Amino acid sequence: MADCAESIVASTLASIEGQAISSPRDAVAQTAQAYHDHRERFLQVWGKSPYRCPPLLGDFLRFARRKAYLLDLGCGAGQDARAIRRAGFRVVGLDLNRSLLDYARRRSPRLTLVQADVRNLPYVTGAFDGLWAAASLIHLPKIAVHASFRRLAKLTKPGGLFAATLIHGRHSGMVQNGWIPGRFISRWHKQELARALRRAGWQIIELKIVSNQERKGRWLNLLARRPI
Ligand SMILES: C[S@@+](CC[C@H](N)C(=O)[O-])C[C@H]1O[C@@H](n2cnc3c(N)ncnc32)[C@H](O)[C@@H]1O
Repeated sequence: MADCAESIVASTLASIEGQAISSPRDAVAQTAQAYHDHRERFLQVWGKSPYRCPPLLGDFLRFARRKAYLLDLGCGAGQDARAIRRAGFRVVGLDLNRSLLDYARRRSPRLTLVQADVRNLPYVTGAFDGLWAAASLIHLPKIAVHASFRRLAKLTKPGGLFAATLIHGRHSGMVQNGWIPGRFISRWHKQELARALRRAGWQIIELKIVSNQERKGRWLNLLARRPI
């Protein structure tokens, strides 16, 4: 698979103060604005080499069939999408943030990139063999995550895969300071996330808590399948 080098990177969770937001739309719009305002800082960390493939991405690709058609949800600077493509799969990188996609396009002109909101995807039922969402669904309020899990199940072919990383913990809210302030972040308990996935029709292959892998802190690494 892709060439990798060690890089554990400080993520953002300096403080989550649970500031009220009035709707999922506000949370997503504020988060998009924060990524736009801090794009240089984001790209300095996530846009540069060396790149280390997340272990979960390796597992996901081992489960995927040859030449599977995969969607990288919230692809950011596009480094995982590039690795997926290099590994021989067909991939679309999708993100809400135009400036991050522009950067990804400059680095890999042949990568297919789409600007869209995870909550409103421009694809039909059964379009993909698998979905990869690294640290992107963390920016949706839980009510929107529940709805997205259901929509993503429909977007995936029967037997298709879903791998995602979400933040483990209790409090959800706006990040007030730290690396990229102004973003909404949700945190999940393992059982709560497992229930949400099963309710949305996903069969869990593995759901585990990991610490300080690609990003600092405790994360939930998910690998699931849509039943045949
Ligand atoms: C923490 S970054 C992770 C980026 C990339 N997956 C990675 O691992 O480096 C979160 C990404 O999710 C994107 N994002 C946040 N909310 C989104 C939404 N509603 N729809 C699409 N992308 C979104 C952001 O623009 C950002 O690129």
